[in-house]
Amino acid sequence: MPTILITGTNRGIGLELVRQYAADGWQVIACCRNPDTASELKQVQGIVDIHALDVTSDADITRLAGELAGKPIDVLLNNAGITAKNDSFGSTDTETWLRVFHVNCIAPLHLVEALVDNLAAGTQKKAISISTRMGSMGESPSGSYYAYRSSKAALNMAMVNAAADLRGRLILAMIHPGWVQTDMGGTQAPLRPQESVAGIRRVIAGLKPVDSGQFFNHDGSSIPW
Ligand SMILES: NC(=O)c1ccc[n+]([C@@H]2O[C@H](COP(=O)([O-])OP(=O)(O)OC[C@H]3O[C@@H](n4cnc5c(N)ncnc54)[C@H](OP(=O)(O)O)[C@@H]3O)[C@@H](O)[C@H]2O)c1
Repeated sequence: MPTILITGTNRGIGLELVRQYAADGWQVIACCRNPDTASELKQVQGIVDIHALDVTSDADITRLAGELAGKPIDVLLNNAGITAKNDSFGSTDTETWLRVFHVNCIAPLHLVEALVDNLAAGTQKKAISISTRMGSMGESPSGSYYAYRSSKAALNMAMVNAAADLRGRLILAMIHPGWVQTDMGGTQAPLRPQESVAGIRRVIAGLKPVDSGQFFNHDGSSIPW
């Protein structure tokens, strides 16, 4: 069965991704900041290998890449992400921007760089990043969330650029999960993680080389930049 590495798997969309891929028989490399406290993750049945990974730690990424050296990985799923308080016009601050950019944009690219050989050795050769339509300029932003929106727009550019560098080697794609009931999405969100993740998995399964560098909704439709 295929192997997938997922970041940010102790809760939210990441945890549901682990549940569904593991239930399908995939070998799941589930990364999270603190495995000791990841109680729900540890209860997931199946082939789930839990690794400590703070995606903003270069040392963690280097250690993880070392642990996985020589291991083929079919799919990398950059899921870990954060929003920020104080992210409205008039109250943005530099520290917040740097932190949000590190998690949402820089770290996903670092992970593709660190694991490119593992992915090239896999059968599916896919590097997926969970983005958001809040980072779409074509969908006319409605205001606020400066760091979050900008970091995801920057993520999209970084991955489109990497798709060009890796054309013929890997398929890179961005997926908007919908507005989902998680700690980030809140209880008002219309989608449950189960529905969102089912859609994300369908999109990933259908990706072909010609789709590399594209931005998809969880229902498979395209999202404008
Ligand atoms: N929910 C939505 O409506 C929605 C909509 C559009 C896009 N998204 C995107 O979907 C992804 C998952 O969101 P979610 O709703 O599941 O959010 P969530 O419930 O807040 O979970 C976020 C996950 O990211 C992890 N994380 C944060 N910073 C990290 C770091 N430095 N290193 C490693 N892991 C880190 C968290 O781990 P800790 O527990 O250790 O903090 C947690 O596992 C994000 O990229 C988000 O931007 C979500």
